[in-house]
Amino acid sequence: MKKILVTGGLGFIGSHTVVELQNEGFEVVIIDDLSNTTLTVLDSITDITGIKPTFHKADVRIKSDIKAVFDAHDIDGVIHFAAFKAVGESIAKPLDYYENNLSSLIYILQEIRDRKLDNFIFSSSATVYGEPNHLPITENAPVKKAESVYGNTKKIGEEIIRDASKAYNINAIALRYFNPIGAHASAKIGELPLGVPQNLIPFVTQTAAGIREQLSVFGDDYPTEDGTAIRDYIHVVDLAKAHIAALKRLINKNNKESFEFFNIGTGKGTSVLEVINTFEKVNDLKLNYKIVGRRDGDVMSCYADTTIANKELNWKTEIGLDEALRSAWQWQQKQSV
Ligand code: WQD
Repeated sequence: MKKILVTGGLGFIGSHTVVELQNEGFEVVIIDDLSNTTLTVLDSITDITGIKPTFHKADVRIKSDIKAVFDAHDIDGVIHFAAFKAVGESIAKPLDYYENNLSSLIYILQEIRDRKLDNFIFSSSATVYGEPNHLPITENAPVKKAESVYGNTKKIGEEIIRDASKAYNINAIALRYFNPIGAHASAKIGELPLGVPQNLIPFVTQTAAGIREQLSVFGDDYPTEDGTAIRDYIHVVDLAKAHIAALKRLINKNNKESFEFFNIGTGKGTSVLEVINTFEKVNDLKLNYKIVGRRDGDVMSCYADTTIANKELNWKTEIGLDEALRSAWQWQQKQSV
């Protein structure tokens, strides 16, 4: 049985990926420092799959902590989620973001190099494309100067992996996520935003739950059909499954280059108002919202061309927006009780 190390394995995307790894028969070792999640997620994963993953509470900024985990296990592959991810905070705390997101990446790659391991998967982001020149966005689109420090950690992270992969012959894949949303069908795991959510869907669900009074729609004067901005919202379970597909590609040595990157989205663009309308429809409720000015740093439209990912990873999304927004609301309701 292949043993996969998952850093940040108790986070939003990490926890869903751990479940899919276990479903596929992988043995999972999780590192998480619990800085943006809770240990109860470990029990929830165990509830869903019937298998308790090995867990190490460790900080990926501490080289000796990472080394100790690699010493304790024969690792066949690594999926590296652990990172800070708040765009606004990253601009206020650049050194913390560069330290956390990049030193951890370097330390993990050093362990992989020193032990002659292989199979590395990195959480990247569609943010590396900035404001795209063409839609939908293909992998050939240029990577732009990042709008935020967070975005820059993903851009630099990919460059570090590209160089390391070439020099040390480490096969690696970066997955460029579009907008992950939703929760596991069991409603046992989901997104746990700390404080006031910055992302659309948690703000929507918290408004519906009465935790927030009103949702602000950032701008209705974009040159789109209804004037609101367009994104590619992908169900987190579909996103999790992309990691399994990428891992299998690496393990089976089906990769064409030592470093590859893929767009992980649905290929479909949805406006903020469409999200709101769909959320209201599928959950049979009304959302209190108002239109306000645009948010700094937002692009107008961002959605994936998934042709390459579909073909090369032999993967495609299976869950639609209706189901994603239904599951997000089910998860939210469980949080408020
Ligand atoms: C989506 C749309 C907003 C909140 C960001 C990061 C990206 C990735 C995911 C991850 C936009 C609008 C939002 C609200 C609104 N990072 N909106 N009212 O900005 O596409 O991507 O999160 O870890 O790197 O940049 O996602 O969910 O914040 O916004 O109208 O209260 O919803 O303007 O058009 P975004 P988002």
